[in-house]
Amino acid sequence: MSHPEPSSLTVPPATRLAGRIRVPGDKSISHRALMLSALAVGESRVEGLLEGEDVLATAAALRAMGARIERDGAGVWTINGFGVGGLLQPAAALDMGNSGTSTRLLMGLIASHPITATFTGDASLSARPMERVITPLSRMGADITASPGGRLPLMLRGLCPAVPIEYALPVASAQVKSAILLAGLNTPGITRVIEPVLTRDHSERMLAGFGAEVLVEETSRGRIISITGEAELRPQSIVVPGDPSSAAFWMVAASIVPGSDVTIENVGLNPTRAGLVTALRMMGADITEISPRTVGGEPVADLRVRHAALRGITVPHDLAPSMIDEYPVLFVAAAFAAGRTVARGADELRVKESDRIAAMRAALEASGVQVTEHEDGLSVDGSGGDAIPGGGTVATQLDHRIAMSMTVAALHARTAITLDNVSPVRTSYPTFFDQLAALSGEVA
Ligand code: S3P
Repeated sequence: MSHPEPSSLTVPPATRLAGRIRVPGDKSISHRALMLSALAVGESRVEGLLEGEDVLATAAALRAMGARIERDGAGVWTINGFGVGGLLQPAAALDMGNSGTSTRLLMGLIASHPITATFTGDASLSARPMERVITPLSRMGADITASPGGRLPLMLRGLCPAVPIEYALPVASAQVKSAILLAGLNTPGITRVIEPVLTRDHSERMLAGFGAEVLVEETSRGRIISITGEAELRPQSIVVPGDPSSAAFWMVAASIVPGSDVTIENVGLNPTRAGLVTALRMMGADITEISPRTVGGEPVADLRVRHAALRGITVPHDLAPSMIDEYPVLFVAAAFAAGRTVARGADELRVKESDRIAAMRAALEASGVQVTEHEDGLSVDGSGGDAIPGGGTVATQLDHRIAMSMTVAALHARTAITLDNVSPVRTSYPTFFDQLAALSGEVA
């Protein structure tokens, strides 16, 4: 995988945003579609796959372990899988680039196969905690040697047959849950994950869609997901819905730039992902759902978003898991609301592609916004809808969501905002700046 050169960008204010766009495929679902297709015997087809660097890192790793993966056209891919238990020994280290999801889910996949893999990544990924997957996967029998602090680079030697476990998640993490379920696929017996707090459920949905035996029970201990091992997956045809985490940037941009009217097509609205829509509506956003439907087993709608006067709120803590990746852009919405927004209950933000609490505090302060940092979030004093001062230079910290969130903030600033490095945007949303140009009537 290539590690892109830093490229800075100065983003001027926009007069209004208008038009229709279709956001790229969901990142979480794209990773899972490739992985489960690789574990099915025969040919699967995926339409609407996100072709960002993170997902391409997953594809490259699966190829290195024996899957045949081909691109037939824009977003259309075919995968010839090797079957559960059929992973081959990769010849070289697996370069995960910036992608925590690729790393943690593939660690799970490999943990119950008799192969050894070395995982490497960029500076951001190499600073992220892997202990959260090392602990349960070691209990299943994997032998993992990590760099100090449980970080990348690390080497994982899988065990086959692995040992089924019952594991209560100590952190609300869909990646940890998914790593254990994927390891459970090639493990005799039943592997159980207990999640006290509901996190995105794409793995459970898709595993069932591929024919795995997955049981989900709501209990007083939380949600228990059981997977029966030594599964046989059947190849599927999957349509990936648009990514709500990518749509989030346009939801906020259209809400804060006066005169805007944007329709975002094909947005995935799985309840475990749709927290930002709820939070923005509480703030007074004007969001209409058009043509609700089901795509690839996931609820989807087009969203029409018009400029609106936002007001500050206290974001309910229980919304946090369903909008965890949207906090940076929620902080931006808060910067334009009337009064104070308190957005807390999200300490996991500290261990994302960057420390998103510290990064957004610094970025907003550099843009003239008043912010108070908490251990688990930010309080933001909004402009009441006026343009923010802007004018500063923002450090994006190798974090795509900081780069895109601050691009959105710049669209309603008095003076242009400079971002030191927007190349990480390619990890999740390669067409972001082209779509911005289209909506603002500029030439890309
Ligand atoms: C993801 C889960 C979340 C999210 C990440 C994608 C996934 O991470 O932040 O962008 O696809 O399972 P955590 O599991 O660390 O919460």
